[in-house]
Amino acid sequence: MKTRVSERLGVEFPVLAFSHCRDVVAAVTNAGGFGVLGGVVHTPQRLEIDLAWIEEQTRGRPFGVDLLLPSRYEGADQGGLDRDAVRQLLPPEQQAFVDDILLRYGVPAGADPDGEGGSLDLLRVSPKGYEPLLDVAFAHRIALIASALGAPPPALIERAHAAGVTVAALAGTVAHAERHKAAGVDLIVAQGTEAGGHTGEIATMVLVPDVVDAVRPTPVLAAGGIASGRQIAAAFALGAEGVWCGSVWLATEEAETHPVVKRKFLEASASDTVRSRSLTGKPARMLRSAWTDEWAREDAPTALAMPIQGALVADAQRRIARAAASSPGAERLANYFVGQVVGRLDRVRPARHVLIDMVTEYADVVERFAAEARGQG
Ligand SMILES: Cc1cc2nc3c(=O)[nH]c(=O)nc-3n(C[C@H](O)[C@H](O)[C@H](O)COP(=O)(O)O)c2cc1C
Repeated sequence: MKTRVSERLGVEFPVLAFSHCRDVVAAVTNAGGFGVLGGVVHTPQRLEIDLAWIEEQTRGRPFGVDLLLPSRYEGADQGGLDRDAVRQLLPPEQQAFVDDILLRYGVPAGADPDGEGGSLDLLRVSPKGYEPLLDVAFAHRIALIASALGAPPPALIERAHAAGVTVAALAGTVAHAERHKAAGVDLIVAQGTEAGGHTGEIATMVLVPDVVDAVRPTPVLAAGGIASGRQIAAAFALGAEGVWCGSVWLATEEAETHPVVKRKFLEASASDTVRSRSLTGKPARMLRSAWTDEWAREDAPTALAMPIQGALVADAQRRIARAAASSPGAERLANYFVGQVVGRLDRVRPARHVLIDMVTEYADVVERFAAEARGQG
């Protein structure tokens, strides 16, 4: 598994694990992979605590941080909107739609504003929001900073390079990848539509070789639909020099996935996800549930722009999360971002075991190919 990416990042396996949970990040890094902490819903104080904890747990092993730096969002002209300004922009039609869903499904009122499922109104997607997070990240021993939804600004790339930090960026099309390369990004993550979270329309199988060819010699990681060694081998065959996985960690022991949602993930098949703008305002792949069905209704209002949609639904998501284990209506609505590999998630295991199984299966595939090439297959 030695590639330019494993050498550059100083890891045994070029398997990058995206997660919002610090425990997953530390576990994967300690098992020889590379954990990346998703920080978009962290407060600077929380990020400080989590990065200090990861540093302590990983004792010199490398890890990274990921932020959303979208090129288009509401309030871009002003450098971003604060929480109150966003709330002023919530239209009555959409608010009434969300209230009606909660009423019809019998979701109990009242939820802790800092409770589970409640961070969508805190998406730090503008410079006002993410710059304090960057200051915290760079004060720590990070080896990589990743940006999604847009190319990292020149000042960020300069800052990272001055600190010896690798810059990665997610791309869903060749045009995105070319823009990242032109901006000076070191590592392109070609993320296919089957991925969980914000995702485009092109499948990993088609996207990865196109991106590899377009940005050569910049190394490429494949993302979207990778949860096994066979899929890693396929990614390498497409020209990737490593993989970037998100969904597979959601069913690990370390993940803080809501227990009801975790159970739904274990039961779901590959057909049970949809791309929906209902949580953040941009198309993101998530588990299909009564929530996504309601937003897909013909008479549903259009979802609002990022980050207004997140603010619109944050309180509803908090209420759903709080009641999901006890209210059948909330249980039906509950969902979360996940990719099509959800169909492969069938038991809860430590992240370390997941990584070891992936790497072992990858080695078996490579061995089988080698044997077949020698005529002993
Ligand atoms: C729950 C969840 C949240 C995500 N949030 C982010 C995010 O904040 N930033 C980001 O760059 N990617 C995010 N992603 C996408 C992942 O970085 C990754 O590209 C994707 O999960 C890979 O495809 P897979 O889900 O098939 O493994 C998220 C994915 C999931 C499943």
